[in-house]
Amino acid sequence: MAKTAPDVLSPEPLPRVIVLATGGTIAGRADPRSAVGYNAGGVTGEQLVASVPGLDRLAALDVEQIANVASQDMSEAIWLALAARIRRIIDWDEADGIVITHGTDTLEETAFFLHLTLPASKPVALTGAMRPSDAPDADGPANLRAAVQAAASPQSQGRGVLVVMGSDIYDPRRIVKTHTTAVQAFESPETGPVGAVDPATIRYFAPAPAARRAPLAIPQTVPLPRVAIVYAYAGMDAAPITHAVQNGARGIVLAGLGNGNAPQVVLTALNRATRQGVAVVRATRVPAGEVNRNVEVDDDASGFVAAGGLNPQKARVLLQLLLSNGVTAPAALQRAFDEV
Ligand code: SIN
Repeated sequence: MAKTAPDVLSPEPLPRVIVLATGGTIAGRADPRSAVGYNAGGVTGEQLVASVPGLDRLAALDVEQIANVASQDMSEAIWLALAARIRRIIDWDEADGIVITHGTDTLEETAFFLHLTLPASKPVALTGAMRPSDAPDADGPANLRAAVQAAASPQSQGRGVLVVMGSDIYDPRRIVKTHTTAVQAFESPETGPVGAVDPATIRYFAPAPAARRAPLAIPQTVPLPRVAIVYAYAGMDAAPITHAVQNGARGIVLAGLGNGNAPQVVLTALNRATRQGVAVVRATRVPAGEVNRNVEVDDDASGFVAAGGLNPQKARVLLQLLLSNGVTAPAALQRAFDEV
């Protein structure tokens, strides 16, 4: 009988990575409206992957087009489609890691939605770009390469959702877009990145968390519960609160002043809203620091929830998911915000 070659001589199979494309500037194309004009979401995921030399040596890649939109048009329906597809990839072990290409404008919200609804077993690396795909200084190819490297790395197993921009890896709870146009457009203001992509390796600065909160159930249908963000400013009145409640909001997130504060007339209106069954979360419009309970505002008496370190847009995503999972009591909402 002919001898088969010993296993040791067969090359290691490449890690399997599925790229889920959703559009954004990374898939953008120049538009003649001006010298710098472009439209996001014009190039397919297949074209993006094909444009990065050597990507096929990092991973065995499959590409799926989930959407092709500018991320200002990212929708709850696309969130549900992404979450359901990734859940299936994880449950059926269809890949070792997942990459999502996404517009940068709402990337942090999609990343956080997925962080809250998916188990952390497999890495899900979101990336985008600040220059369109056909710009001379396009940053998408290097970002996509770094994201594939992160998703394919055994070091990323057990870390769940990550955001990869440039050579930085960020925690979806902490990342925020901090610049409108610069290529370095993301930061985690107080904590910095959680890891780095080097040419040959992925480095994390701390071990993956040992235990994690159980994922929230992925809602089955849209729309998700209506949650308004109300931005606080000097001299504001209670009209935005009244309007939100009349419009059927089941939750209101205050993008508050300082430690999640607002003029007294606004706090009074928010307290009235809680008595009408509307969940109220106090976040802050300040870029760094936490919103704490019962400092300047009497949260216990008013039935408010303090957002901790979540910015208003992320607090809104968490509140929508909690309400759709049937969590409505202020104490239970506060526990969930504290555990994130
Ligand atoms: C978008 O978010 O789709 C446009 C902006 C970008 O991707 O940088």
